[in-house]
Amino acid sequence: MRTLGIETSCDETAVAVLERDGSVTFSLISSQAAAHAPYLGVVPELAARHHLEALPRLLAEAHRQSDLGSIELVAVTRGPGLIGSLLVGTCFASAYAWGRSLPIVGVDHLEAHLVSPFLNLGGEAARAVPDPTISLVVSGGHSSYFLLAGESVTPLNRTRDDAAGEVFDKVAAALGLGYPGGPVVDRLADLGDARAFTFSSPRIKDPSGALDFSFSGLKTMTIRSAQERLTLPLADPGRPPQVVLDLLASFRRTIVDWLLAPLDELVARHRPAVVAASGGVAANRELRERLTGWGARTGTEVLLPPLALTTDNAAMIARAGQLRAATGQLDDPLSLRAYPRATWKRRKDSDR
Ligand code: KG4
Ligand code: ZN
Repeated sequence: MRTLGIETSCDETAVAVLERDGSVTFSLISSQAAAHAPYLGVVPELAARHHLEALPRLLAEAHRQSDLGSIELVAVTRGPGLIGSLLVGTCFASAYAWGRSLPIVGVDHLEAHLVSPFLNLGGEAARAVPDPTISLVVSGGHSSYFLLAGESVTPLNRTRDDAAGEVFDKVAAALGLGYPGGPVVDRLADLGDARAFTFSSPRIKDPSGALDFSFSGLKTMTIRSAQERLTLPLADPGRPPQVVLDLLASFRRTIVDWLLAPLDELVARHRPAVVAASGGVAANRELRERLTGWGARTGTEVLLPPLALTTDNAAMIARAGQLRAATGQLDDPLSLRAYPRATWKRRKDSDR
């Protein structure tokens, strides 16, 4: 179905149009980063208000650039995320669908990241998800490998504490580098020596968690290493000293080392046709390069979303909606509910 996608789970307002074959013909993202930057993190109340202002503007732009008259389905993020922001998106999408007598489908934000590596920009159709696929989702809220097999999505590991994106954001905030931290740390890390600092790996005692992640110790070690050498926040964050560049390069290398560490064992266990990665941290240059290099070395196909569809966007929401609708999972615009917490387990059955 030709689909209008709407995403408002955090601080990006996004609207997209996908053709029946999943090709992306319109995708617009309005970032609120500047509004939240002074607070070094997302302020939920501000985010909801910005979505309320931005959505009609984005929809009007979609109307100018695309034929909304032939839309057959509306897809919207139901959760997880900031509840005020989700309510704005779900109410807006429900009203639009109801007003135009279109079917609506609510999708899970995580489910949408999972399909994003199979989208293309430039008019190409979306790829089917090969069976089985191993998919790493790394964002501000998730750091997990998943196994996609048939209809099921099974987490293969998890983070015991912070998500990888959260750690990028917190390190950047402590140094005074602003919000969001991932892109700025990524850029500065290119200028540093990644071997300058070494960090001890976390010890997870529970044997069942052998492949789990833990990033909060790395966050603390990185911030402490900076505090021992400099006064924080940095006086001139536009021109950090070399020691900070070295620290950030070492921090980024370590996160990527740890993110890739479970891969060989997971691949040996599950023999996937494809390894994919998605979520904001999958925009990280070192992660992209090293994962692609791992694929070339091991002869495994590695798929990453186009950069523009790596951080939050509505094309992935529309695609997840198309796939749900194809299996008959539609919602009622008069009773579609948003949910703030991760509920991926409810994906197939009891969530309606
Ligand atoms: O997927 P996303 O846009 O939103 C969530 O679902 O959380 O991910 C946002 C996260 C933020 O923590 C941001 O700092 C991080 O992705 N991020 C990056 C990069 N670009 C965005 N982290 C590392 N390197 C990047 N280039
Ligand atoms: Zn996301």
